[in-house]
This record gives sequence, C-alpha cells and structure tokens, in this order.
Amino acid sequence: MYKENPKIAVFGLGHMGLPTAALFAQRGLQVLGVDINKKNVDLVNSGKSPIMEPGLGDLVQKTVASGNLSATDNGKDAAYDADVMMVIVPTPVDLEKRSDLEAVKTACKTISSSLNKGDLVIIESTVPPGTCENLVIPLLEESGLKVGEDFGLAFTPERALPNNTIYEISHNARVIGGINRESADNAAEIYGKITEGEIIKVKNLMTAEMVKLMENTYRDTNIALANEMAIICESLDIDAIEAIKAANHHPRVNIHIPGPGVGGHCLSIDPYFIVEAAQKRGIEANLIKTSRMINEEMPEHVVHLVREALSEVQKPVKGSKIGILGVAYKANVADARETPAENLIKLLIKEEALVCVHDPFVSPDVIKSFKVKPVSLDQALKCDCVVLVTDHDIYKDITPHMIEKGVLVCTRPVLNPDDFRGEGVIFKGVGRF
Ligand SMILES: NC(=O)c1ccc[n+]([C@@H]2O[C@H](COP(=O)([O-])OP(=O)(O)OC[C@H]3O[C@@H](n4cnc5c(N)ncnc54)[C@H](O)[C@@H]3O)[C@@H](O)[C@H]2O)c1
Repeated sequence: MYKENPKIAVFGLGHMGLPTAALFAQRGLQVLGVDINKKNVDLVNSGKSPIMEPGLGDLVQKTVASGNLSATDNGKDAAYDADVMMVIVPTPVDLEKRSDLEAVKTACKTISSSLNKGDLVIIESTVPPGTCENLVIPLLEESGLKVGEDFGLAFTPERALPNNTIYEISHNARVIGGINRESADNAAEIYGKITEGEIIKVKNLMTAEMVKLMENTYRDTNIALANEMAIICESLDIDAIEAIKAANHHPRVNIHIPGPGVGGHCLSIDPYFIVEAAQKRGIEANLIKTSRMINEEMPEHVVHLVREALSEVQKPVKGSKIGILGVAYKANVADARETPAENLIKLLIKEEALVCVHDPFVSPDVIKSFKVKPVSLDQALKCDCVVLVTDHDIYKDITPHMIEKGVLVCTRPVLNPDDFRGEGVIFKGVGRF
C-alpha cells in the first residue's frame, strides 16, 4: 500500500495548508495544492504566497520553481493523481456556535469521486470528535471502496503558531490517529519527512481529534480564569499581573495572561466543538461554556475601563475620539480572525464613540470591514482615549508623552502603569491597579 515517495494533494492552501504543502515539496515530494480560491491558486503557481507568514514567500517561490509544488482548483484530477490526500480546509462555527463542516464535506466528496485503491486520506482540519467516523468515512466510502481495506485514513491535528508556522510544523510533536495501525504508521512515515518533532500515535481517529480540542480548550479556560481573576483583582485594588507572575513561581501553577478577550481561528472556536459533542451525549460542558462566555465578555469590560478612564477627565464615551492600537488577535501578526477588537469596536460605536484604528500588520481593508477608519499611529495617539488592544512590539515603545490627551487603557500587560501615572497619564488596564 505504501509508496516510498507518494504524490501528495493538499486540499486547502491557507495558513496551515500552504506551509504544509511547501514543506513536503521542499523535501522533494511532488505536491499538488488544491484550493477553491482561483486567485490564490494563480498566485501560488506564479511562485507567490497569498499568506503573510515569515519564510513562506521564499519557500513557495523555491518549491514552485523546482517543479515540486503546483496548485490547481481541480480537486478531482488532483485526487486522482495523488496517493495521499490531505484535508486542511476551514472549520468555523455558525451563528449558533455549531461546527460548520461544509468545507470538509466538499473536500471529502471531491476526494471520494477520485479515490483509488491504496490511497491514504489524512484529515488535518480541526473537527469535533467523531467527525472522521460519522462524516468523513461515509463520504469517502461513497467511492465504493472500503476504509481500512481499500484505502487508509488518518487524522493529525495541526498545532502551529502563526508567525512561526514553518518552524512549528517541522518541529512540534505530531499526534496521529488512524483507522488502523497501517494508516497511522503510513501517516507517521509521511510526516516524518517534514518534522523533527516527536510523532505520537494514539489509539484511534477520535482520540487524535480530541487531543487538539483539549489543548485549545485548556488554554481558553486558563485565559478565562486569568480574566476573571483580573476583574476581581481590579475591584480589590490588587495588580493581577503582579499577583499572577508571583503565583506562577509555584512549580505547579501556570496561570495565563489576562487580556481583551480571545481571538484567532482556534482558541475561540475549538472549545465549542467539545460543547457540541458533549451536548449530543446529554452532557453540559459547563466549565468550557462559562470560560467561553467570560472571554467573549471581555470587550465589555474594556468598554467599562474606557468609560472609567474618560470620566476622570469629565468626558463621556459618546462623542469621544477613541484610538484603538491593534486589531490583530495576537502580537505581530496580520490575522484578525475572531479578534476581540471587532466586538470592542462594535460596542464603542454603539455608545457613539468616534473610533479609529492603527494596526501596522492588518490590511486597511480588514480594518475598514469593522466599519472604522485606519489611521497612523500618530493620529491614534492624539485621541481622547487610547486603547491598546494588541501587544504588537512597536507599542512597547510608547511613552507617556506620546499619549497626547493623557488617557490610556491598556488591555495587555506591556506598558508599566507607574511609568504613565508618574507622568500624569490616566492609566486603566485589564487587571491593573
Ligand atoms: N490558522 C491556524 O493558526 C491554525 C492552527 C491549527 C489548526 N488550524 C486548523 O486548520 C484548518 C485550516 O485552517 P487555516 O487557518 O489554514 O484556514 P484558512 O482559512 O487560512 O485556509 C483554508 C483554505 O482552504 C480553502 N478551501 C475551502 N474549502 C475548500 C475545499 N473544499 N477544497 C479546497 N480548498 C478549500 C480556502 O479557500 C482557503 O484558502 C482549520 O480546521 C483550522 O481550525 C488552523
């Protein structure tokens, strides 16, 4: 069943799929990237990366030039040609916070129509536990072939961090579950070509699906705990950041950092996949749901801090100019998906504040999609209240004299309140006293 150098088709040339495809191509394998976005397909074929990620542009350029990587929107032909099909397509939640697996379904249907005996299908998209068993296998078996006998199936979650994706894909430990031993072994052999990280084979597909969800739910819940502690500490006149840092000296304590909420394509979505799976079995995932609620309500707390800060200079939120620093969901990235900044902006606009945004990474079009004006850093710092939302490195150099109207709300622990208060700036911060 297994070929030494299989031809690979990667379905989904996004933040995770394109680096994965390019890394396999760099190792000398023939890789065909499949995407429904024709513009991205054309960009990749011209040697350019549609994704902003350090090192990715170079990697795409070299692997396309070498002839090892090409892209297409014809998934059917690609699946027919390939021995291994990897599915790395988006898996968002809908408005009811239920998993939207449409892209996985479409990719699997396409693969199914061209599946050959001896092929191996690998799902990398983050999915609710049971998705491979209940959705992927029935779709693939519409081919008339039998999973585990005629074709293999494995699940391996992607766990790389944006801005360090290439390093992490090739160094992080990789968890693999298979429909049987042979599928897991074959998938391990393939990923061994691009990763120096440990390969951990777990008992089955569903365990591997759950591992990814557990990791992100652990982090989301930990951040919710930090956020709740932060709000309580503010009311007790305790600096939560100082307290958390001190608590973390305990050898078995690792409280995360509070902030304006949780964004990105993973942490703010994946816990809902567990909630959904639990509900189907009559279990309420109370801790996980509450953690999500706490994190989703953090923008409201930030508005409360803005209101408090402005009231110290006798200004209402209504009509005040608010300069938001950063809408990316995390430091030094261009990714603003699920960013808590979006809700914060909505809430401020609802209170009739005049909001503008500076973000050196996020494109002006994305900023405009939040119905606000992108401005320069200088312009943002001239506002009645400056709100630091994302801890981009450049904001760490902000000094008290740069806050022209003397009112600052800092949602991340990157500026020292004492430095600002000592210079007469009104400083409010998540968890800061
Ligand atoms: N971005 C991250 O940091 C990250 C980290 C770990 C895991 N993941 C998971 O990886 C998966 C992919 O995420 P991403 O961030 O790369 O998504 P993305 O939105 O950046 O890219 C997905 C790509 O898939 C394409 N696509 C959609 N439907 C398709 C189909 N039927 N056939 C072929 N291509 C299709 C889209 O056009 C897009 O280019 C998701 O399940 C996500 O949860 C993402």
